[in-house]
Amino acid sequence: MGRTVLIVGGGGREHALCLALSQSSSIEEIHTAPGNAGTRHFGSNHDVAASDIDGLLELSHRLQIDFVVVGPEAPLCDGLADKLLSKGIPCFGPQQLHAELEGSKLFAKKAMNAAGVPTAEYDIIDDSTNINACLDARSHDPWVIKRDVLAGGKGVVVTSNREEAIEFIERSIQSDGHVLLERFLPGEEASMLVVMDKSGYVCLPPSQDHKRAYDGDKGPNTGGMGAYCPAPVVTETIHQKTVERIVEPMFSYLSSMDIPYRGVLYVGLMIDENGDPYVVEFNVRFGDPECQVTLPLVDGDVGELLYGAATDQISKMEVSFKSQHALTVVLASEGYPQSAIKDRLIHGADQRLDTSETWVSHAGTALDEQGNLISSGGRVLSVTSVSETLQKARELSYQRLGLIQLEGSHHRLDIGHRAL
Ligand code: AMP
Ligand code: GLY
Repeated sequence: MGRTVLIVGGGGREHALCLALSQSSSIEEIHTAPGNAGTRHFGSNHDVAASDIDGLLELSHRLQIDFVVVGPEAPLCDGLADKLLSKGIPCFGPQQLHAELEGSKLFAKKAMNAAGVPTAEYDIIDDSTNINACLDARSHDPWVIKRDVLAGGKGVVVTSNREEAIEFIERSIQSDGHVLLERFLPGEEASMLVVMDKSGYVCLPPSQDHKRAYDGDKGPNTGGMGAYCPAPVVTETIHQKTVERIVEPMFSYLSSMDIPYRGVLYVGLMIDENGDPYVVEFNVRFGDPECQVTLPLVDGDVGELLYGAATDQISKMEVSFKSQHALTVVLASEGYPQSAIKDRLIHGADQRLDTSETWVSHAGTALDEQGNLISSGGRVLSVTSVSETLQKARELSYQRLGLIQLEGSHHRLDIGHRAL
């Protein structure tokens, strides 16, 4: 008998989780809360928000869920894993203590320093009279300023404009009490997703996101406009350095604690010109859209892997990866990321057009009263392809995207440009 799983969240990442778990023979039944118009095809969507911790507990209990997979960070920071565990329900996603690695930049910096992991040096500014002196002391590069709260991707400003820097610092001190000023790390970014528990860890193939809204990495920051995997910027040597200098020390640090880390540690890397990796950020969840291109490359039962991590069995598992390439392109609503125009009809995203090579991952989608597919968020969907080459995966994704119509929508035309 397979397991019953509850997936918490409703974005493209959660659609990708549904797809991978639906292909896992260890999984019998999939429930999603709240899910989206795409996830309902894999099982049942439940009208419980990812922020409704008590509602999720009640749902897990009522459905006799075998384990819960948490997509977004906020419920983890709010202690969802702790509460599930206290009811005897295994959870893929760390407890509140470790969720602070994403919830607080200062907490993450202290953990990295304690574990001896390379990251940018930083100052804490908590006094508005000090700002100019602090900026002068780090005047050689753009300034990197980070709020110390969960800010939904809007908590970091990288700028050479002193006025903008001062304004952001002042505002952050006012709302949060303090703010971090970090050394600018030059280089190329990549994402390494590490599935971890008390017993061990598995590094998934590295991927690369495209955070800026427009082609050529221009425009405002977004949640991510597309991704591909594996990312060749992480060469074998850099991979090895990342494991030795970052993953191993973090695993030793986290697994030595009373509360183990169970879930995925998202290591946001900056790789400098010497090929040395630094941590830009930790997240305590799968990346979105990195998840869409990483899970399809796992050669085996993803349900078993996630359940294994939720129950400290990773060290017993053999995980291998397909030698293929995956690429996903995000379709965003008009106005995203500043403000997104929603409730527009989407044509051409019918799941019946999906193949084993190319498929649509829904994110901000819903059904209107007549049952038509409409947009309901900033990032509406992404088209993912898996193929023998990255070039081919890219062609397939753009071909499929060409069949989809959403008034005013936009997407990048250059996903994968650094690798191709
Ligand atoms: P974070 O939320 O910490 O990932 O920061 C958001 C983005 O800001 C990152 O993806 C990087 O592009 C950039 N960034 C953050 N910290 C640094 C840094 N120390 N040096 C250069 N860029 C950074
Ligand atoms: N794609 C970046 C993130 O999920 O944080």
